[in-house]
Amino acid sequence: MGQCFQFYHQLIKIMFDKKVYAARRAKLRQSLKGGLVFFPGNPEVPCNYAGNTYPFRQDSNFLYFFGLQKPDMYGVIDLDADKDYLYADDLTMDDIIWMGHLPSVSDMAATVGVQDTAPVGELRDLLHKAALSRRRVHFVAPYNMQIAQKMSEWLSIPAAKLKDSQSVELIKAISDQRSIKSKEELAEIEIAMDIACKMHTTAMKMCKPGTYEYQVAGAMEGIALRHHGGMSFPPIVSINGQTLHNHDHSNLLKEGRMMVADVGAEAHSNYCSDITRSTPVGGKFNARQKEIYEIVLKANMTTIETLKPGLPYRDYHIAACKVIAQGLKDLGLMKGDVEQAVMEGAHAMFMPHGLGHMMGLDVHDMENMGENLFGYDDEIKRSDQFGLSYLRLGRRLQPGFVLTVEPGIYFIPALIDMWKSKDKFTQYIDYEKVEAYKDFGGIRIEDDVLITEKGCKVLGQPIPKTVAEVEEACAKE
Ligand code: GLY
Ligand code: MN
Ligand code: MN
Repeated sequence: MGQCFQFYHQLIKIMFDKKVYAARRAKLRQSLKGGLVFFPGNPEVPCNYAGNTYPFRQDSNFLYFFGLQKPDMYGVIDLDADKDYLYADDLTMDDIIWMGHLPSVSDMAATVGVQDTAPVGELRDLLHKAALSRRRVHFVAPYNMQIAQKMSEWLSIPAAKLKDSQSVELIKAISDQRSIKSKEELAEIEIAMDIACKMHTTAMKMCKPGTYEYQVAGAMEGIALRHHGGMSFPPIVSINGQTLHNHDHSNLLKEGRMMVADVGAEAHSNYCSDITRSTPVGGKFNARQKEIYEIVLKANMTTIETLKPGLPYRDYHIAACKVIAQGLKDLGLMKGDVEQAVMEGAHAMFMPHGLGHMMGLDVHDMENMGENLFGYDDEIKRSDQFGLSYLRLGRRLQPGFVLTVEPGIYFIPALIDMWKSKDKFTQYIDYEKVEAYKDFGGIRIEDDVLITEKGCKVLGQPIPKTVAEVEEACAKE
């Protein structure tokens, strides 16, 4: 068998009514002036040879505005003619033999409210002509090399210059729309949350000495697959939680270590969840683990209690860092003036990442468009201070935003050694005390929340989070 692993046997799935997609495109047309808007859908991506591909994932902007899941489709919005087009090639008999039947391109287009369709060759001609006549083509710089190559050829722009030519107006208009989640979108996110809840409660039960990390990671992924979903990003399941995005799952779980499970599901619709729970191996916190855990929990819960529209998320990040610095000071690991320590960035040795990010169709929503263009704005600029600079979302919150709250404390031996050797922040960090924690690992607690008119709502069913709840979940069979 040759190409039997490819995608096409799967029937096209459309999540929402065609009116939803038509309304999204109509809104975008109102935000932009003149020219064409080009939305390339994703191609299949080869894993080790052309016919053996990674699981297909449609581009999220294409999904949002054109809703179709088939590879090699391209959407165009003509702002001057007020019309939408779908460009794709119908299947050949060979495609049908190997990959199964699909509706025609025009039938698929009709399901998302697009009347006008044409083969891809005509798109190439349209974009060539637009380039020659200097007609404006709005696009987002591609992250996929096959798309970059096509766009470069079709738009007559060298691939390395595509980023300079992308449309900032388009990115801002998309960001305005996608940042505010509709009821239909929230319902899909809730499905992803339900799957995440099952994954994490299972992981807690499995968090016992003698189990391998890959067994836990595999069980979690299996739950997503069994619920007609997938993973929203490669799972992080590790007793070395001090490595923030640790994708190695080869360790045996050992008493005395915390297992950080940062794992999210992607619903069948591609809407995401992103949850972290940190569980003591063996199901009982020792005194040292409990002390650090309670600090992270306080930073998580204080943020959630105070979140509401209007303030910049950057301010919540800074407030959470102060909770962490105060907690570490109470334990004797930090010292001096907490406000000043956080202002200068001393806490970032323990929490070097941001408090959270937008979430939706992408787990880091819209990150392909460059976080500075949707996570920041003219008022709130990204800091270049170590730690704060990793914050992906800094701007003021609005009702309808969905975002993560994910404080953590980590003991990263290489970072501790480097800062210590440079006598960095010796007025705020007690390096002798920290030395004893270099075998600790890390703790992160992450929830996903919706910003409401007056505050925020934690999405999904409650997932065990307090010390007592986690210990109880671990004890269940
Ligand atoms: N899953 C990576 C993160 O929490 O952002
Ligand atoms: Mn996460
Ligand atoms: Mn996250």
